[in-house]
Amino acid sequence: MRIAMIGTGYVGLVSGACFSDFGHDVVCVDKDAAKIDALRQGVTPIFEPGLDKLVERNVADGRLSFTTDLGPAVADAEAVFIAVGTPSRRGDGHADLSYVFGAAGEIARALRQPTVVVTKSTVPVGTGDEVERIIAAAAPDAKAMVVSNPEFLREGAAIEDFKRPDRIVVGTEDEDAAEIMREIYRPLYLNKAPLVVTSRRTAELIKYAANAFLATKITFINEIADLCERVGADVQDVSRGIGLDNRIGPKFLHAGPGYGGSCFPKDTLALLKTAEDHQAPLRIIESVVKVNDLRKRAMGRKVIGALNGGARGKTIALLGLTFKPNTDDMRDAPSIAIVQALHDAGAKVRGYDPEGVEQARPLMPDVEFCASPYEAAEGADAIVLVTEWDVLRALDLKRLSASMARPVFVDLRNIYPPEEVENAGLEWHGLGKPA
Ligand code: UGA
Repeated sequence: MRIAMIGTGYVGLVSGACFSDFGHDVVCVDKDAAKIDALRQGVTPIFEPGLDKLVERNVADGRLSFTTDLGPAVADAEAVFIAVGTPSRRGDGHADLSYVFGAAGEIARALRQPTVVVTKSTVPVGTGDEVERIIAAAAPDAKAMVVSNPEFLREGAAIEDFKRPDRIVVGTEDEDAAEIMREIYRPLYLNKAPLVVTSRRTAELIKYAANAFLATKITFINEIADLCERVGADVQDVSRGIGLDNRIGPKFLHAGPGYGGSCFPKDTLALLKTAEDHQAPLRIIESVVKVNDLRKRAMGRKVIGALNGGARGKTIALLGLTFKPNTDDMRDAPSIAIVQALHDAGAKVRGYDPEGVEQARPLMPDVEFCASPYEAAEGADAIVLVTEWDVLRALDLKRLSASMARPVFVDLRNIYPPEEVENAGLEWHGLGKPA
């Protein structure tokens, strides 16, 4: 198959590289010339485990290439994927579809043969209809079959998720288009991944419903963690105890500082807007959004509370700043709200992150960044473990404790058993466990 991938962000680049790895011929298109130049020289613009090698291998084998020139890439393709950004629109929380619609117009003018045009970007219900209208208006003679094919990969595990998905969702009412999509994904469903073919609108909604449900699961366990603290129960045991029920499942039941990232916050807001537009309120999701926002701020207060006597003049070391491990992505990271709260309370903040410092710097200009967790802890009044990077899972707690001014250890991911922390001479504060 000849594929054009429009947009070389997270989803576009990973999908393009993986499709080429299946043996398809893929041209990735982006307007950003600097990005395309870098990719041509083998420099990937994002940190994602395994992506550099995947790109390098497929470029070397001649199946993957990069261009700023959309026209020829689309003219040649049997399938064109739109994987451009859909950020939250300033002011109203609606998904900003200007990049998607812009791409649709450009694609329309470049089409030279019957082509499947696939929206992979996360787009509200009805966007496929609009893309179809834009193509028909811009190029009345073009034959485009517009399909929805949402992507469910997670940052940090993107390649594994793409190649071993729980399911592939294809939204189209056109049998020819469905056949081409089956052909594109053949290596995966031969590998037993279920291919769910639905109407286009249904596929669009599946993506938002999935992210909103996962955000709900996280928020649910976060509130249960708060209750555990009050009643002397242990949230990790509650998660295990409920997660072993197949109807609930064990995943996404880790209490933490609130969900962040480029997807859950933006997609829950966009879904609420769609619900509002169609007078079908989603009250559960409304609560999830509110509770999660409050939680991020509450985490700052939790740290201040652990300091006994306030944060003014104290030095706090934050370990792990990105919204989750194995990414350099800082979008909506809980660490941002925590730093804000600590600064407001008069504390000095040091930060350590294995990959995210460059992205973090502009978002937290007053933080002093350190080269290791031990450097960050030197003379500090508290350590706060915010993001569970592997390098933070086996810290030498005794060494940390020995170098700190005050031995306060706040574990916002429940990585370390309280006894282990206390045996190292540190005072343990975590989530959802008896003190
Ligand atoms: C999420 C979904 O998991 C993907 O399926 C989806 O494709 C993606 O959004 C998207 O829409 O593009 P991602 O944002 O990369 O993926 O990250 P997750 O691993 O889902 O984590 C999101 C947030 O939830 C993180 O802040 C994480 O720390 C938090 N989380 C996750 C918890 O606090 N507890 C958990 O048990 C799980």
